[in-house]
Amino acid sequence: MAVERTFSMIKPDATHRNLTGAITKMLEDAGLRVIGSKRVWMGLRDAEDFYAIHRERPFFAELTEFMSSGPTIVQVLKGENAIARNRYIMGATNPAEAAKGTIRRTFALSITKNSIHGSDTPETAESEISYWFSKTEIVG
Ligand code: GTP
Ligand code: MG
Repeated sequence: MAVERTFSMIKPDATHRNLTGAITKMLEDAGLRVIGSKRVWMGLRDAEDFYAIHRERPFFAELTEFMSSGPTIVQVLKGENAIARNRYIMGATNPAEAAKGTIRRTFALSITKNSIHGSDTPETAESEISYWFSKTEIVG
């Protein structure tokens, strides 16, 4: 298995409930190492850029307004098979369908307020990392 990097974002519903540490612990317990981390409050334009692939979907306005409604924690995670490993520990997009023990099953409030984002391919991982982090902010 290859060692990969992926991008994660703890969403505003989770930072609001002071769950940054609890969620990060679940990522670490799943074998991922946090090699970059910072707190950012993105504007609506950044949220629209970030979720541009969903621009035509009916939930786009709700999603981008929510993502710009409060602070997020952006993180770079490293580990074996990190992209799939992170998606696995996050759980399904809809928390009602997420497996027991996953972050979304444990903490998410709804399909919009679902507590965490994770990149889905090596290409999106690298582009999301370079959008949010400079090289000197990633150590490890
Ligand atoms: P992210 O890691 O946030 O990208 O989630 P994902 O990869 O599991 O799902 P996807 O990229 O398909 O959708 C991005 C975000 O849009 C999700 O995390 C949800 O918050 C939201 N979303 C996706 N599908 C729906 C839907 O059918 N209804 C609503 N209201 N929101 C949705
Ligand atoms: Mg996605």
